Amino acid sequence: MSIAEHNLLVVDRDDDFVSAAKELFDGRLPIARSLEEASQTLEFGDIRMLLIGPSYDDEGDMDQIRMMHNQDPALIMMLVAEEVTADLLRQGMRAGVSDVIEAPLDEEKIESAIERFAHDVLKRKRETPREEAPSAPKGKKGHVITIISAKGGSGKTVLATNVALLLTRIPNAKVCLVDADLQFGDVCLVLQMEPRFTMVNAAHELHQLDSEMLDSLLTEHPSGLKVLAAPLEPAFADDITTAGLMQMIDLLQETYDYIVVDTASLLDELMLSLIEKSEDILMLVDMDLPSVKNAKLALETLRLLKFSTQNVHLVMNRSNSKARLDNKEIEGALKMQISAAVPSDAIVAASVNEGRAVVETDPKSKVAKGFESVAALIVADIPEATQKSGLFGRK
Ligand SMILES: Nc1ncnc2c1ncn2[C@@H]1O[C@H](COP(=O)(O)OP(=O)(O)O)[C@@H](O)[C@H]1O
Ligand SMILES: [Mg+2]
Repeated sequence: MSIAEHNLLVVDRDDDFVSAAKELFDGRLPIARSLEEASQTLEFGDIRMLLIGPSYDDEGDMDQIRMMHNQDPALIMMLVAEEVTADLLRQGMRAGVSDVIEAPLDEEKIESAIERFAHDVLKRKRETPREEAPSAPKGKKGHVITIISAKGGSGKTVLATNVALLLTRIPNAKVCLVDADLQFGDVCLVLQMEPRFTMVNAAHELHQLDSEMLDSLLTEHPSGLKVLAAPLEPAFADDITTAGLMQMIDLLQETYDYIVVDTASLLDELMLSLIEKSEDILMLVDMDLPSVKNAKLALETLRLLKFSTQNVHLVMNRSNSKARLDNKEIEGALKMQISAAVPSDAIVAASVNEGRAVVETDPKSKVAKGFESVAALIVADIPEATQKSGLFGRK
């Protein structure tokens, strides 16, 4: 769809914005200098979309925008803002705005906002039967699954992304992946996603954060999986407190059926709180001696701290590697049965570099079957890959 097909009307009181918008579209655009004027224009033309300029930013303006929306709910309204804050986004969304675009305006930004909007509409249409039950059933809280390992590079992020994508195959399941590797979170990188917002935005709005607002800060993967992105720079990790992140997960539990949490390899306060919150903990152990030794130490610490290890599932990664340790010995050392295993395969590294998950690109591979056996620890019957996954699969 081109911008012209949307019969755009630009509304703003500010001269600079209006002339910049005119310039952008070679003067081809109709302009209104107030929402009242826009309202009159709407009665005559076949305007389908309003582009509301940055001078509309306070509460009174939002009330006016809401009134326009109530009069004509089919009208698409995009708000332009000098700075897109989580607060403005929330207020705008509540007033019926479809998206908030950051100034200065360019054609690409408008087009991608329209695309996002079209995508949302299509999705809502597909989900119509769910309209009455937009979230996890009332009173039932989403199932939290945390991936941990006592050693970095053991494959947590690869496991978290693949398991989360497998859970999205469950009909009507709403799945959110939380990147709680606060300093070096790379979920978005591994899934080739560019977050507009991260948990840092949510952390700055904690006093008024609700599930609707948090939802607007998530990033959506083509599969429908939502991601609460980690801070974009290690320095921002300090903005995320354990209590804050727990509050976010509580809110996600109201809306999402499954919340998968990827972590850093640290047995700190955050990790302990996450473990406490989770119904299932997937403890990933690589098939080498240091990994097994660290896993043993971590489990002993948890037992010492009187944490139940009943819901910890032991998952072996690179289970077919050459320097393979004996399963029985590992189980003896960790005092725990191995629940699932994922073999080593070069397609994993390739998938990471391509930003596409193995369960989508190579659903028949042994590694994908390994990830399925891990997901089966959470939900017994994960549906087979459908054509949908082919759509996002390797070309
Ligand atoms: N089963 C596997 N087979 C082959 N390579 C793997 C496997 N699991 C993980 N890897 C590789 O290990 C690297 C580290 O994995 P990652 O998920 O980022 O670890 P972590 O999040 O625990 O630090 C990845 O880039 C990936 O290429
Ligand atoms: Mg990681």
